[in-house]
This record gives sequence, C-alpha cells and structure tokens, in this order.
Amino acid sequence: METTTQAPVSMPRIGDKAPAFKAKTTQGDMDFPKQYEGQWVILFSHPADFTPVCTSEFLTFAVLEQQFAEANCKLVGLSIDGLYSHIAWLRTIQEKISYKGHKNVEVKFPLIDDISMNVAKLYGMIHPGEAATQAVRAVFFIDPKGIIRAIIYYPQSLGRNFDELYRALIAMQTADEFGIATPADWRPGDDVIVSPAASCSSAKNRMDGKEDMVCQDWFFCQRKLDKEKVLKAVLKK
Ligand code: BEZ
Repeated sequence: METTTQAPVSMPRIGDKAPAFKAKTTQGDMDFPKQYEGQWVILFSHPADFTPVCTSEFLTFAVLEQQFAEANCKLVGLSIDGLYSHIAWLRTIQEKISYKGHKNVEVKFPLIDDISMNVAKLYGMIHPGEAATQAVRAVFFIDPKGIIRAIIYYPQSLGRNFDELYRALIAMQTADEFGIATPADWRPGDDVIVSPAASCSSAKNRMDGKEDMVCQDWFFCQRKLDKEKVLKAVLKK
C-alpha cells in the first residue's frame, strides 16, 4: 500500500465496500478494487512465502486460474513479504515444486507486496492470537460492484479447499442471476431455495403447484434449476 502512514486495523464485513488501496504486485501496480470493476475478484492472504502449505495453495490457485477467469473472477494474493521474496518464491515454485501431479506451474496472477502490513491491517487479515506479523489465510470474495460478498478465514496450518472456493463463487453468482438462495452443499443442477413466502396465500399457491416450486412448509420452498442454465448464465461473461 503506497502510504507513509500506517493503516488502522479494520475488519471489513460482508456487505461492506471493499476497502481501497494502491499497491505494488508481482504483476505491476494495482489500484484495488477499482481496476477490477465489472469482475469478481478473490483477494486472499497467506502467512508467508517459502512455506509449504502456502506453496501447495499457490500452485493450486495457479492451476485453477483459468477456471476462475471463465467465471469472470480474478485472483489476487497477498502476504507480508516484499516483492523480491515473492518473485523468488514464485520462480522456485515453477522450477522445482510439483503438487498433485502439477509441475512447472507459473503463477500469473498478482501477488501483493505488503511488507508494510498496511493492506493486511486494512482487511483484518492479521489475527494476533494466530500470528502477530503474518496474515492468516483469509479469502475475500468481492463482486463486480466492489462489494464484499463472502469472507472465509483459515488458520495457518490448514490449506484451503479450492472446490469450496469455486463452489461458493458459482453459488453467489447463481443467487444474483436467478434471485434464489442455495442450500447446504449445493452444486449446479441441485434444487435451489426460493425465499420464504411473503404471505400465507402466496405460500399456498406455491404449495398448490401454481408456481414451479415445491414447499414442504411455508418456510422451505425449493425449485429446480437446470445445471446447463446455471452454467450458461455464470460462465457467459
Ligand atoms: C505453511 O504455509 O506451511 C505455514 C505457514 C505459516 C505457519 C504454518 C504453516
């Protein structure tokens, strides 16, 4: 973050505007979230370069970068390390590390230099009970309007589940596109949740099958949503 003053510690929440910052990254200067307007972005932190769990995560994110891009989502990494460390680490990953059958993987998405800890503080990525000078594994999902839509934190010892990150992204995009919610463990093709009925009569209509939904009670209505429709809608952009 290009400031001389220290950023105050803040804890952005779901529904907040993503805090703005300017930073240097492995892919050049960044103006966040402005330069991602119109796209989803996953801003994620890791504790440190040259650490094993983080290495497995970066390699996995790099392998999946294209899949996220096809869902209109860019990736941005961050740790409390400088640019030269980032560059050396990413080069080492590409030259020497293989994980789950993937090797010679180039990390093409930006990794923020946050040696000042300013961005980590701005995004509440430092949890002192876990570590005072390293970020936890935070994941911020930011929508095309720059609004924080989901936040997930993992401790240092726990590598993220990338199926879940992708599932969450697609589920939120589906909710936006179709005005529905997604139930536990939802995946494209599964039934979706229709908001609780605004009134008993509309619930009755629904239960009578006048709309394309099935209600087990007034508060639990579901409808079908074809996998093809979902994928067409969310992968179109
Ligand atoms: C790791 O990425 O392996 C790691 C980083 C910080 C603390 C513990 C593990």
